[in-house]
Amino acid sequence: MLTAVGAPLEIWDDVEVDEPRAGEVRVRMAAAGVCHSDLAMAGGVIPAPLPAVLGHEGAGHVDAVGPGVDHLAAGDLVAVSWVAQCGQCFYCRRAQPHLCEQAVVAMASGGLLDGSSRLRSPRSHLFQALGAGTFAEAIVVPAVAAVKLPPDIDPAVAAMLGCAVVTGVGAALNTASIRAGDTVAVVGCGGVGLNVVQGARIAGAARIVAVDVHPDKLVLAEAVGATDGVLAADALGAVMDLTAQKGADVVFEVIGHAATIEQSLAMTRRGGQTVLVGIPAMDVMVEIPAMVGIVLAEKTIKGCWLGSSDIHRDVPRLVGWYRQGELRLDDLVSRRVGLEDVNAAFAATEAGAVARSVIVF
Ligand code: APR
Ligand code: ZN
Ligand code: ZN
Repeated sequence: MLTAVGAPLEIWDDVEVDEPRAGEVRVRMAAAGVCHSDLAMAGGVIPAPLPAVLGHEGAGHVDAVGPGVDHLAAGDLVAVSWVAQCGQCFYCRRAQPHLCEQAVVAMASGGLLDGSSRLRSPRSHLFQALGAGTFAEAIVVPAVAAVKLPPDIDPAVAAMLGCAVVTGVGAALNTASIRAGDTVAVVGCGGVGLNVVQGARIAGAARIVAVDVHPDKLVLAEAVGATDGVLAADALGAVMDLTAQKGADVVFEVIGHAATIEQSLAMTRRGGQTVLVGIPAMDVMVEIPAMVGIVLAEKTIKGCWLGSSDIHRDVPRLVGWYRQGELRLDDLVSRRVGLEDVNAAFAATEAGAVARSVIVF
């Protein structure tokens, strides 16, 4: 439980979980991944109503279904994501369910699609971060935020599907248009960035340059498909040298800092794409010279939200690639920890020491 910005997470044992209402399911969590956005909420970089149960990716077993839910049943293993996709709003009807208007309400309100939370404690009203709150033994989520998985998949691997994997792989395959033979750079190779690397490989990129401040991340990136790994300080020169001083065809920024966004824009060739995946703080501003930076350069700068993914279409496809060995997800689970070690897991992510820590219940 996050009770205040900057405070360590607390474990509350007096939390009650309501029955699912219409269109909702209760999930007994088996595993939940620690994402940098959880740290951003704990540090106040991403605003969130408090006290809140953090966590917005996870996997678990359905133990109750509300009225009107027909695609899930008790006992199903599901991946939980933080963008519920209502299927009916302006965006969902235009095949952009990652922008779902109802999901925005859930995210901002710390509740489900009607804005209310299903977690209670005698101490306080409780919120579910991003409408999820996967750092809990059980939660109720909108059924449209849960995707059924094969029963035999490792829940710790499945836990990453709902944010890191859909966002990373989706950024490469849905948000960007990578052509076979392209040179791609990925700036920031954490849990999300390592999945961008894999998505770029699947898309047919010939050269994938991984950029990070941590040498260990470059080793991991090369293990999952990067052809070159360069430390952040040397990255612009290295990408230029690899591309006859033109820049990469597609560059992904997967951190959310102004300096790395600027570095990513500089690394993008004329006519290329810069895809901004990392979630910046609300006050981060970027200045781009309109003529040489955009018009003359004809660069496309694209935001990326949840990898532009339709979770109901994409999660099964990702599971298929994982099973064929095309997506290396086992390598990304750096640590399995108990819920009591959540603060240590946050510190490891903050230090850049892990791809993903996964809380196992
Ligand atoms: N240059 C290059 N790499 C950097 C820099 C930098 N200046 N600063 C940090 N990094 C690296 C870290 O070493 C780490 O490997 O960026 C990576 C960030 O990874 P994680 O902390 O695992 O974050 P992740 O969960 O992947 O999220 C990345 O996407 O969803 C958003 O909110 C999330 O903005 C965050 C981003
Ligand atoms: Zn996340
Ligand atoms: Zn919608």
